[in-house]
Amino acid sequence: MKIDILTLFPEMFEGVFSSSILKRAQEKGLLQLTTHNIRDYTDNKHKKADDYPFGGGAGMVMMAQPIFDCMEAVQQGEPVHRILLTPRGKLLTPKKARELAKMDRMILLCGHYEGVDERVSTIIDEELSIGDYVLTGGELPAMVLVDCVSRFIPGVLGSEQSAEDESHSNGLLEYPQYTRPAVFRGMEVPEILQNGYHAKIEQWRYEQSMQKTKEMRPVLLGRFGKIED
Ligand code: ADE
Repeated sequence: MKIDILTLFPEMFEGVFSSSILKRAQEKGLLQLTTHNIRDYTDNKHKKADDYPFGGGAGMVMMAQPIFDCMEAVQQGEPVHRILLTPRGKLLTPKKARELAKMDRMILLCGHYEGVDERVSTIIDEELSIGDYVLTGGELPAMVLVDCVSRFIPGVLGSEQSAEDESHSNGLLEYPQYTRPAVFRGMEVPEILQNGYHAKIEQWRYEQSMQKTKEMRPVLLGRFGKIED
């Protein structure tokens, strides 16, 4: 999958894209990540990419011109799914992430300041938010989206199973995990995990998932087995 990211702060992506699983996915050729600086597409000599809002109000608004020009240069007239990261978007869910993982190409636009000139919505296919809180810009949400979607691309994770085993993938939170040693500072790994009966371990994990979900996110239990998001 090829993902282009339009941003005013391309340097923010460097560490995240050159580490761990995202790094390996790019080395394996499963993922191609490119950042583009919107400021490079401004048509004024001060490289100004934002301006005061019509009608007044606090903060600055990202201008349409550099975004349109940057989008056109990157898209090259090809059919590409274009996403704006904004707190007013639809919520990114595991269902949405799985759906996006099937795409060949995406362009992510990171909003900043108080917002983006509304005319930009004419070159956007979908607006997404990563949660009901407001961040200083769309860069962290774009990184979250890339990371979350990549996990569903076949071959990105070590074993295909792991994307399905985790919290939320079946609508429940994940069961507790342990590794060696069996006893650490007097705390012992539950007996059932040590004796190796597969069916019993599955049952224990299911019960633990249920219990954890009831305790931490009871609202999820109401949805379990009904809708998948
Ligand atoms: N930009 C600022 N806050 C955001 C959020 N919660 N989701 C997506 N983009 C954002």
